[in-house]
Amino acid sequence: MKNVGRNRGCVVTGVAGFVGSHLAEKLLSLGHRVVGIDNFFSGYPENMASFKDHPAFTFYDTSIAEEGLLEWISGRHSGLSYCFHLAAIVSVPYSMDHEEETTKINYDATLKLLQSAEKLRFSRLVFAGSAAEYGNDQRLPLLETYADEKTRHLSPYGQAKFMASRAVASNPIGVALRFFNIYGPRQDPRSPYSGVISRFLDMALANKVLTIFGDGHQARDFVYVSDVVEAYIRAAGLNDTGPSVPNGVYNVGTGKSTTILELAETIKDLTGNALPLNFCRERPGDIRFSLASVDAFSGAAHWVPRISLRAGLRETLHWVRRDSV
Ligand code: UD1
Repeated sequence: MKNVGRNRGCVVTGVAGFVGSHLAEKLLSLGHRVVGIDNFFSGYPENMASFKDHPAFTFYDTSIAEEGLLEWISGRHSGLSYCFHLAAIVSVPYSMDHEEETTKINYDATLKLLQSAEKLRFSRLVFAGSAAEYGNDQRLPLLETYADEKTRHLSPYGQAKFMASRAVASNPIGVALRFFNIYGPRQDPRSPYSGVISRFLDMALANKVLTIFGDGHQARDFVYVSDVVEAYIRAAGLNDTGPSVPNGVYNVGTGKSTTILELAETIKDLTGNALPLNFCRERPGDIRFSLASVDAFSGAAHWVPRISLRAGLRETLHWVRRDSV
């Protein structure tokens, strides 16, 4: 058994985002210090409400593309040794129209952070990769090795995440986590780029018809945000039990497949929405099935997803309800 102790110095980029804010909250609750970075490109100050005044938290409103950012932060805060790099252009459609900017933020800036972290002798940099790195590969479940230089990425977002993951994974301090469809409280339900779960919950509660793009038999691997946070903690080695994770790239999903039709029916059931579903044209560029093999990370980190879809949906529903009153 390791004894990680408390008071470790952590940098969280994208701290005002949906996942980054949950991660910062958890690190602070474990007794660590957190320096958070965000430029509110897609994050919100409200996401930090529960910890913005925490004495072990410091926030900088800046872009990760700033030259020498990690050096500058490390000059002001001693003992920083963990970097959780979540900040990115997160919208796939936006990346289609802004290829150069996506490469600059999602790839170039990641490389710079990685080089700085290594030079500053950080113990670990954990990077937020994406299932988009697999393109439309339909060999399911998806193994980490399936994404390679031959993969045809469907967006600049997928391409940049793949290149960044590869660079991170090959560095001795790097762990790239390839996340499948993350959901939970604080996932923005109103943006046109919102994930299907926050969208469906929001619509169902407003007693609106849920719209299914295509026949609804497309399926995804939905993973709840607290399981994702635990994956970050284990990837960094900040957990007291379990092994140290070797550098590399690891899928983070549940290994369970849910069709969009099943999801819609469960949400209707949980919210009491009795309206018939509205089927419309398939979304251009949509992939059909996505499912993770999580054996590699389960083996390396002794991590298992704990929250069932129904339980996670209930928690998310509480939050959407609280938000709409
Ligand atoms: C998700 C990611 C994306 C990533 C991709 C990698 C989100 C929000 N997006 O896209 O960044 O590149 O995984 O595989 O997490 N749907 C409906 N009705 C709706 C909304 C969606 O039927 O109102 C369907 C979509 O057509 C799709 C499925 O639900 O088939 C999931 O959609 P979405 O939540 O946007 O995620 P992905 O397309 O998997």
